[in-house]
Amino acid sequence: MTCKDRPQVLLIIFTILSCSLTASATVSEANALLKWKSTFTNQTRSSKLSSWVNPNSFCTTWYGVSCVRDSVVRLNLTNTGIEGTFQDFPFSSLPNLTYVDLSMNRFSGTIPLQFGQFPKLIYFDLSINQLVGEIPRELGNLSNLETLHLVENKLNGSIPSEIGLLTKVQEIALYDNLLTGPIPSSFGNLTKLANLYLFINTLSGPIPPEIGNLPNLKELCLDRNHLTGQIPASFGNLKNVTLLNMFENRLTGEIPLEIGNMTNLDTLSLHTNNLTGSIPSTLGNLKSLAILHLYANKLNGSIPKELGDMESMIDLEISENKLTGPVPNSFGKLSKLEWLFLRDNQLSGPIPPGIANSSALTVLQLDTNNFTGVLPDTICSGGKLENLTLDDNHLEGTIPKSLRDCKTLIRARFKGNSFSGDISEAFGEYPNLNFIDLSNNKFHGEISPRWEKSRKLVAFIATNNNITGPIPPEIWNMTQVSQLDLSSNRISGELPESISRLNRLSKLQLNANRLSGRIPSGIRLLATLEYLDLSSNSFSFEIPATLDSLPRLYYMNLSRNELDQNIPMALTKLSQLQTLDLSHNQLDGEIPSQFSSLQNLETLDLSHNNLSGPIPESFRDLLALTHIDISHNNLSGPIPDTTAFRNAARDSLEGNRGLCGNTTQGLNPCPMSSSGKKKSNKDRNLIIYILVPIAGAIIILSVCAGIFICFRKRKPQIEENSDSESAETLSIFSFDGKVRYQEIIKATGEFDSKHLIGTGGCGKVYKAKLSTVTMAVKKLNETTDEEISKPAVKQDFLNEIRALTEIRHRNVVKLFGFCSHRRNTFLVYEYMERGSLRKVLSNNEEAQILDWSRRIKVVKGVAHALSYMHHDRSPPIVHRDITSGNILLDGDYEAKISDFGTAKLLKPDSSNWSAVAGTYGYVAPGIFFFLPR
Ligand SMILES: *[C@@H]1O[C@H](CO)[C@@H](O)[C@H](O)[C@H]1NC(C)=O
Ligand SMILES: *[C@@H]1O[C@H](CO)[C@@H](O)[C@H](O)[C@H]1NC(C)=O
Ligand SMILES: *[C@@H]1O[C@H](CO)[C@@H](O)[C@H](O)[C@H]1NC(C)=O
Ligand SMILES: *[C@@H]1O[C@H](CO)[C@@H](O)[C@H](O)[C@H]1NC(C)=O
Ligand SMILES: *[C@@H]1O[C@H](CO)[C@@H](O)[C@H](O)[C@H]1NC(C)=O
Ligand SMILES: *[C@@H]1O[C@H](CO)[C@@H](O)[C@H](O)[C@H]1NC(C)=O
Repeated sequence: MTCKDRPQVLLIIFTILSCSLTASATVSEANALLKWKSTFTNQTRSSKLSSWVNPNSFCTTWYGVSCVRDSVVRLNLTNTGIEGTFQDFPFSSLPNLTYVDLSMNRFSGTIPLQFGQFPKLIYFDLSINQLVGEIPRELGNLSNLETLHLVENKLNGSIPSEIGLLTKVQEIALYDNLLTGPIPSSFGNLTKLANLYLFINTLSGPIPPEIGNLPNLKELCLDRNHLTGQIPASFGNLKNVTLLNMFENRLTGEIPLEIGNMTNLDTLSLHTNNLTGSIPSTLGNLKSLAILHLYANKLNGSIPKELGDMESMIDLEISENKLTGPVPNSFGKLSKLEWLFLRDNQLSGPIPPGIANSSALTVLQLDTNNFTGVLPDTICSGGKLENLTLDDNHLEGTIPKSLRDCKTLIRARFKGNSFSGDISEAFGEYPNLNFIDLSNNKFHGEISPRWEKSRKLVAFIATNNNITGPIPPEIWNMTQVSQLDLSSNRISGELPESISRLNRLSKLQLNANRLSGRIPSGIRLLATLEYLDLSSNSFSFEIPATLDSLPRLYYMNLSRNELDQNIPMALTKLSQLQTLDLSHNQLDGEIPSQFSSLQNLETLDLSHNNLSGPIPESFRDLLALTHIDISHNNLSGPIPDTTAFRNAARDSLEGNRGLCGNTTQGLNPCPMSSSGKKKSNKDRNLIIYILVPIAGAIIILSVCAGIFICFRKRKPQIEENSDSESAETLSIFSFDGKVRYQEIIKATGEFDSKHLIGTGGCGKVYKAKLSTVTMAVKKLNETTDEEISKPAVKQDFLNEIRALTEIRHRNVVKLFGFCSHRRNTFLVYEYMERGSLRKVLSNNEEAQILDWSRRIKVVKGVAHALSYMHHDRSPPIVHRDITSGNILLDGDYEAKISDFGTAKLLKPDSSNWSAVAGTYGYVAPGIFFFLPR
């Protein structure tokens, strides 16, 4: 019954009519909402929406609905797990709607233009859903709107200029979408606007100068777009702005002087643009500025002394520009400074003592400049210095006492200066020190046993100084060390067997010293060793016959010593070796034919020894070999017909009187005996018959059991991470065969969308087709990446990943490992051909193929996996997020659960598992939904 139905109603029953009017309005609003709810994919299972039942009491009993005079004014369904669209939203039935918050659900589809028809709307939030399409220009009709939030969706197209009609709007947040095109200049009409957040889109074109006329603007974030042109001088009018982020765009031109008029600024971030000219001295007027990021631009000229007037400054980063001249003394006035980054410029002159005046100074990065003179005495006088980098300057003199006593140090880089003095006196004990690089200086004296007391030191690098004497035995107690580089000094003495205690060592460089005696066989216990250089010393006796179990070793250089006897068979078991250099020793005997098992060997130098006999035929199987040097031995017989030998220069084969082969390589031609030739053919066949099945078996076995190594070619991980907080290795793998970081990058086309096979909460999944095997690579998104690279989180994360790579169960997707390098952090999984159960079920054809028996098999598989993880693992591993999306199917429809254990790691604050945390055996309802129709 409605008003229209009964136009001729009597005045006497007015009261009754008005009752029925509101009642029917009520019921029609409630029914409209129920109708919308009925379109939600999984609406029946919502605990919160289950209160949406009785239409007669909807104002009082329904979750998220608030009324005024029996009419809905507020609809707040944030974070209720709804999966649906706005197709059937009751646009015409809710005339008094004022506050709409539908954020954090799984709404998909587009934003209907009818949302522009709510004249009373004040608050409109559809953030964190899966909405696509454009922002409807009709939203410009919401003349009362104060808040517009559409963040973290997949909206594309450009921002309609009609948004500039929202004259009452105070906050617009459209960040983290796929918006393109320019920022509309009509935004200049939004006089009430206080906060404008457009970051993480692909907006282009110039920044409209009209924005500088918004009197109430407080926060303006336009960062991580493709904006071009200059920063408008009109920004000087933005007196109330406290936060101005425009980093990671393509802005050009000079920083306008007028920025110095933005006197309320506390954060100004313009880094990673193409800004030119000099830093305006007017920035000195910004007395509230605490964070100034101008790094990675093309700024030149000298640093204005007025920057010392920014009395609130905490974080000053102007690295990676072309700044010249000295650091102004006025920096001594920055008494709150915690972080000072001046690295990678052309700054010169001495480091002013005042630079250390702030008692809060924590990070001081001055490397890659032209600084001269000695370090100021006071450099660590504040007692908070953690990170000091001075690399690649022209600094000299001794290390000041304040650094010797600087207990807070975590990372210190002195590399490439002319620091001098007795190294045994220069440094103290550092309870927190993780990384120190003293290389390429003029330190002399002996290594102090005191280093043992720096219990967290992971990388100790002192190459190319004048260090003498033996390595003190205390050094071999530093079991945490992962990189030890004392090369190119004058260190003498022998290496003890106790070297085996350094069982976290991944890179050991003691080359170019005066070490003598035996190579300790304890090296074989360094299970994580990847890089070993003992060359150019005076080691003698034989190469230890036990060096056969270094599963990660890819570089081994023992050249230029006095090693003798045979090449031990053990070396042929170092299956990851890429480079082996045994040259300039006194090795004799024959080259072991088992060398052919070094399938990754690329460079082999056996020159200048006394090796004799033939080059084994099996060298033909060294498919990776590209560089060979066997010169100056007593080798004889034919040169194997392989690329490496064919391309070998004359001088890598010379000096072997008995070798024969190609005359252009300076060899004698081989005698052509037909019987000999036949024999070798026969041999070859034999090799094929025997080796192919064996190699096949090895490949299969190693796929099942092996060890996987991830590193950049010939660059040890330790260097990869040298810019990050910790020098510890950042990769863990348990897969055999050589799969390197670069190969994964290449196989995914640098994470090209054409290899994309899925998208999840914490990243995207790509298919990586490598030469021997196909893998699924989950690239973590930036926020997850940042989260796990926090020092407090990282070690735990790595430990957990390491544990997870050890899990083997036929119904658990194998996690092969993890790799992190700069912005690319990814997990590598077994590839599952048929994708997720959800995908199979949503495809009619595939869902039919997945018949009853296969579905039962899937359920059994899931049950097996859960049972194993909960009861057979100690401690038990709880998945916390099992859905049809992470039950994957292989070619035989065998189910395997993915993301076991990582759900927790990667989404530590995710709300959708808090409810089930701890309930072992929990299976989300999703998977029982797939009985055949
Ligand atoms: C709908 O299903 C998703 C998973 O598909 C789940 O996360 C969400 O909680 C469900 N929503 C409701 C209301 O049950
Ligand atoms: C919606 O409810 C949540 C809490 O349930 C609250 O934080 C939020 O401010 C509400 N939104 C509106 C627009 O009232
Ligand atoms: C709701 O809207 C209707 C139609 O515009 C109007 O008649 C009614 O007074 C409104 N109710 C409230 C509580 O504002
Ligand atoms: C701003 O508003 C004025 C007056 O309402 C209008 O004339 C002008 O076109 C608007 N500017 C933009 C850029 O939309
Ligand atoms: C700054 O904001 C205040 C109110 O918060 C306002 O009164 C003032 O006009 C604004 N200043 C400028 C320069 O617009
Ligand atoms: C703004 O900055 C310019 C250049 O630094 C200066 O000339 C002008 O006086 C400033 N205006 C105001 C209102 O402070």
